[in-house]
Amino acid sequence: MNSPLVYLNGDFLPLDQARVPVLDRGFLFGDGVYEVIPAYAGHLFRLDQHLDRLRDSLAAIRMSPPLSHAQWRELLQRLIQGRSGDLGIYLQVTRGADSKRDHEIPQGLSPTLFAMATPITPPSPEQAELGISCITLDDIRWAHCNVKAVTLLANVLLKQQAIDEGSQEAILIRDGQAIEGSTSNLFIVKDGLIITPPKGPQLLPGITRDLVLELAAEAGLPYAEASIGFDELQNADEIWMTSSTKEVMAVTRLNGQPFGNGQPGPIWRQITQLYQACKERLRLGAETC
Ligand SMILES: Cc1ncc(COP(=O)(O)O)c(C=O)c1O
Repeated sequence: MNSPLVYLNGDFLPLDQARVPVLDRGFLFGDGVYEVIPAYAGHLFRLDQHLDRLRDSLAAIRMSPPLSHAQWRELLQRLIQGRSGDLGIYLQVTRGADSKRDHEIPQGLSPTLFAMATPITPPSPEQAELGISCITLDDIRWAHCNVKAVTLLANVLLKQQAIDEGSQEAILIRDGQAIEGSTSNLFIVKDGLIITPPKGPQLLPGITRDLVLELAAEAGLPYAEASIGFDELQNADEIWMTSSTKEVMAVTRLNGQPFGNGQPGPIWRQITQLYQACKERLRLGAETC
């Protein structure tokens, strides 16, 4: 099979020919940021929102945007053109390659820009109905989790611990509060109210999170952005985890026990239908959803 084309610093070239210098600060320090953007039937999902977050992540690490939104759009459209099926675009910007290894941020480096599109398989309706199993773990990450930094070692270790313990995701607890997952945002439902922790340095401002809140508002479902204590998590009526690739997954097992009746709840079902309808509108050519 031909190696798929990827974008690297102005060129479109086969993945197996893409090379980055070893003195790239992304390689040496994890000095860079990234995005993961789904594309359904050739339509980029919530692209402006992803590019806004990329701009914010870059600003947080003292980098200026290397491309405008319009330039990114054109580049990503070209990357997925002629490719069928659902794709996940991985896009990474690092501070670039220096001539030596030094923590101090050098001036005048050209950033390294990389993007690739790989097939994704969103959860099938059957998988979604099964839900996922989660464990709670101490949040060992840093103090700027709102930045989508490539420095993901803590997330990698947390995710692996969840997998080692037979679960799919870790719900991270910091100072007695449930914050988010290792690769997803957190929602609970209690007495009909949808609750997700407010944005801030403790969590990634998820694009799926925001869409879920928009869909809830449009459907007249009550919601609140409020902190979720560990007890509230355990006593919730429903728990969901959200991300661009996993969409909205209900938690049906928590810490080795069935959660509630072990099945996704009714409000999850309502939100999932709205989410799938939104994707469908995009597939059929809606400007955005
Ligand atoms: C730590 C973390 N939180 C939340 C999310 C969900 O963000 P999004 O909905 O933008 O994919 C992710 C996605 O990768 C993540 O890594």
